[in-house]
Amino acid sequence: MDPFKSSSMSPSIKLPWLPVRTKMGWPRRGQIYVWITFTSLLLFFCVTLTFNGHVWKMFDSNMHLDEYDDANEGYGLRKLLEDPEARIERLRQEGLEKRLPQCIIIGVRKCGTRALLEFLDLHPNIKIADMEMHFFNKDENYDNGYEWYRKYMPFSTSKDITIEKTPRYFISESAPERIFRYNSSIKLIVIFRHPTTRVISDYSQVYENKLERNKSFEPFEKIVIDKRTGRVNTGYKAVRISMYYYHLTQWLLYFRRHQIHIVNGDNLIVNPLEEIKKVETFLGLDHAITDGNVYFNETRGFYCMKSGINQHCLGAQKGRKHPDIDPQVIRKLNNFYRPYNRKLFAMIGQKFDWD
Ligand code: A3P
Repeated sequence: MDPFKSSSMSPSIKLPWLPVRTKMGWPRRGQIYVWITFTSLLLFFCVTLTFNGHVWKMFDSNMHLDEYDDANEGYGLRKLLEDPEARIERLRQEGLEKRLPQCIIIGVRKCGTRALLEFLDLHPNIKIADMEMHFFNKDENYDNGYEWYRKYMPFSTSKDITIEKTPRYFISESAPERIFRYNSSIKLIVIFRHPTTRVISDYSQVYENKLERNKSFEPFEKIVIDKRTGRVNTGYKAVRISMYYYHLTQWLLYFRRHQIHIVNGDNLIVNPLEEIKKVETFLGLDHAITDGNVYFNETRGFYCMKSGINQHCLGAQKGRKHPDIDPQVIRKLNNFYRPYNRKLFAMIGQKFDWD
């Protein structure tokens, strides 16, 4: 007897994508097989996307599932099915622990902080915290204590360096002192980009967010220039963030210059490897990130990351098209930043081509 012909199996809710009875009668067995095949394929692709290529790897070569698991901490099926506490205990026995960061990327927002972190993640001895923790700048997080902070850190061995990035730290009043109290010999990384370009990038991000929420937003020129005085509007936060000299001074009250590595964000876009190698040296690590780990993606117009068979670029929120800006306003901004830039170069003993 064909079970699908039994009236007792008639479904009470008829969903269009289920093989239900239509005016033409019950679907034929062939149609049901097609439906099952289609659903299985759909499920397979969802799982594949979720694990970002790791499922393919499981079918790759003669890799044993355990080997696969060991090479891909957190993604293997064995580890997904394992009891979380047993997993933590096993990782501990293997020398893996959640360690507090030995290096922090403190800023600057819209200068390439995410790209920097993701390029560094390609290094076998660098372990990154995926989330921006806002631990040292937000009282409600800081009051939770270091053990709360540690919970969000990745597993690492004693040979690894854990890195956290929160660009907000750079302009925070409380972060420099708190980080100093946490670890006075910590390594800090700051990434700078042409200050005017950074303001435009900042504006573009906020503009896009407002547009998505159907909120109105003034043109860049109107926000950036004070219409009463005709001068650069320092009341606009994005303008103040690009006054790098002012903010970095607060950090140098606590940390010595050699503890702070400065990345050239403009160069990171066109020559990421050059900047990454300098960071590896600063962190005392081997130059493990090579040509084979970066490739230029024509569609994105940016360098992307490559590790084995896995490739990925940053999301569409990074590398937005900037609006066309009145050249006179650009000139005003450049003139405004020039004296701050000069002071910055003298303070850090490093120059950027920002004129
Ligand atoms: P735009 O979106 O203005 O182009 P942050 O991660 O600190 O928010 O910085 C975002 C900026 O990183 C982007 O600004 C983009 O120019 C820059 N960037 C640098 N390298 C990049 C890369 N490989 N892919 C995408 N964006 C990158």
